[in-house]
Amino acid sequence: MRTPVVIIGGGPSGLLLSQLLHLAGVENVVLERRTRDYVLGRIRAGVLEWGTVEMLRAAGVGARMDREGFVHEGTFLAARNAQFRVDFVQRAGKPVMVYGQTEVTRDLYFARAASGGTVIHEAEGVTPHGLDTSAPWVTYVKNGTEERIDCEFVIGCDGFHGVSRGCIPASVLRETERVYPFGWLGILSETPPVSHELIYANHARGFALCSMRNAHLSRYYLQVPVDAHVENWSDDRFWDELRRRIPHEAAETLVTGPSIEKSIAPLRSYVAEPMRWGRLFLCGDAAHIVPPTGAKGLNLAMSDVHYLSEALIAHYRDGEPGGLDTYSERALARVWKATRFSWWMTTTLHRFDDQGAFGQRIQEAEIDYLASSPAAQAAMAENYVGLPF
Ligand code: FAD
Ligand code: PHB
Repeated sequence: MRTPVVIIGGGPSGLLLSQLLHLAGVENVVLERRTRDYVLGRIRAGVLEWGTVEMLRAAGVGARMDREGFVHEGTFLAARNAQFRVDFVQRAGKPVMVYGQTEVTRDLYFARAASGGTVIHEAEGVTPHGLDTSAPWVTYVKNGTEERIDCEFVIGCDGFHGVSRGCIPASVLRETERVYPFGWLGILSETPPVSHELIYANHARGFALCSMRNAHLSRYYLQVPVDAHVENWSDDRFWDELRRRIPHEAAETLVTGPSIEKSIAPLRSYVAEPMRWGRLFLCGDAAHIVPPTGAKGLNLAMSDVHYLSEALIAHYRDGEPGGLDTYSERALARVWKATRFSWWMTTTLHRFDDQGAFGQRIQEAEIDYLASSPAAQAAMAENYVGLPF
């Protein structure tokens, strides 16, 4: 098989890139290791920046999001039982959209299938070759048979545990990382959300987040030690702990029910540089991970796709290679700003056992400042709704 662009990974970044290239007449093939149901079974991000919303609309996959998603014009933050609101529209001129990553992915699969796109699932042992030549190729095994696709570019959209990043020689790749000493225990439950907007709660027992997917589906998270096991967290234990960490008023109205999904995700910040080597380009989690506190992971993957789709389309349509040469630099400038914001949200809102009294008081002062200063709220809102790209 021969195609101009092979995209490794059929998550949100791979599928959106595939769709945007297709709309511009650049044919491509997506190779995904898992089944479609497996990919759609993963519960991940829930908040879309406005730039992401506009990209999905431009890609022709915004209709269901616009019907079923929820526009949020602000969020609540809570600490020491007091709650305040940051108004995104007032402070930064834009809202966000609450619409799950699972739904974004479903819409993208539907759109790719509707326009005859090739998404090959259960592609095992995907391996790029010849990335430092002008004629790379990718091999994989499907139904026991080895296949080969010759191409011009290979795009690594294969997430943090994918195969692409490892193709960049160690002498070239710079990795920068911070691992946090805790994780997030998340549950999904078929209950009405406790609040019409998200609540990010700082508490001496640890951080908590109240989020949602729709009017009947809630998503809640608790900060837990990095070595916590999900088996030790019954639904009752989860709800009891959540009630303790959120403001009394919310705790009193919280509707609980059985969890339909429960998992623990570790928190880390990680950036791999550069995001291009020869004919290989990295996008999304394949190149960087942020802790989920700023709701940036999925949105950063989407802004990478914006820069890269623009560059590939300019290359094929106008023979203009400049965008490909500056892709890594442009994408990384935004990646580092989102990495900073996610780190700031994480350090401001979580409990750090080793921070001592000084660290604790500084954290309280930071939150008080945010509660009372329009300038501080503008800085938070501008980053939360998404920096321009
Ligand atoms: P992914 O969604 O990881 O997609 C990569 C795809 O590549 C996958 O489908 C994978 O199966 C496939 N793949 C991997 N290796 C190979 C291979 N060798 N060959 C072929 N295919 C391969 N962000 C938030 O903003 N909020 C959250 O609450 C949140 N929760 C998260 C929870 C977890 C457990 C994880 C892992 C991430 C979470 N994120 C969250 C981050 C967000 O989901 C990611 O930033 C987003 O999924 C990135 O999209 P992506 O397409 O780059 O990567
Ligand atoms: C979610 O709904 O899953 C969610 C929302 C906001 C975050 C992280 C996760 O910051």
